[in-house]
Amino acid sequence: MRRIAHISDLHFGRTDPAVVEGLVEELNREPPDLVIASGDFTMRARRSEYAEAQAFMARLPRPWLAVPGNHDISPFHLWQRFFHPFRRYRRYIAPETEPVFQDDEIAVVCLNTVRTWAPETDWSQGKITRAQIRRTEARLAVLPPGLFRIVVAHHPFMPPPWDEEARLVGRADEALAAFQRHGVGLTLAGHLHRGYARFAAPNPDGPPRAELNRSEVSTHPTRLLAVQAGSATSTRLRGNEPNAYNRITIADGTATVQVRLWTGQGWCDAAESGSARCASAE
Ligand SMILES: [Fe+2]
Ligand SMILES: [Fe+2]
Repeated sequence: MRRIAHISDLHFGRTDPAVVEGLVEELNREPPDLVIASGDFTMRARRSEYAEAQAFMARLPRPWLAVPGNHDISPFHLWQRFFHPFRRYRRYIAPETEPVFQDDEIAVVCLNTVRTWAPETDWSQGKITRAQIRRTEARLAVLPPGLFRIVVAHHPFMPPPWDEEARLVGRADEALAAFQRHGVGLTLAGHLHRGYARFAAPNPDGPPRAELNRSEVSTHPTRLLAVQAGSATSTRLRGNEPNAYNRITIADGTATVQVRLWTGQGWCDAAESGSARCASAE
């Protein structure tokens, strides 16, 4: 069994100090096996914000894994944004923007979906390149069978149930199809500051199940659950949703997601939860 805490959109520079302290206490009280932070550590990628984020991450139980969010590259210093966009992220958070984690039960592959520039006015939206999809597929293909496979990115792969038109990460469909071909059971993301979980549709472009390589996918049905986290510590809340994070348990090839909500005094379980059956489980 593995227990994962999925936190997102911390946004140091606009946090509630009581929530920050409460989250440090909560995650240290019963330390999970792994903490995953799906981006937006800061508001404007300022040094002071990064220093706060770094101090916060240092107080969390280890190991932890992270990806950057669109707020983690500077909107002010264009030279830095275009030529060294992740210099501060690498210095204060982690040297890798696409880390990989693997133990004898789970494998986690991270994707950096942040764009430094876009041919539209809104540069905050994320995208996955075809090269990233190929690289992720190559990483997934060499994993031993039987590991529960998780992909992490900042931008969402599936829209909220209440807004089917919501903007997703660019190439979301292509990426989901690739993940499903390789037996990924969960994607974890943030950006929208709203928590929800949805099953991806069965892969329409995938080969017939009989042709799937046994070393990559077992005979269990592929069900990929796309999980979104709310903002863990920021005061930039949307839709009357309180600060939140996801507590994920993976056991016997099944992932169960429990949303934890900040009540003002502490954290409690939200009523809703989702679960996914992992395709790669034996
Ligand atoms: Fe955010
Ligand atoms: Fe974001």
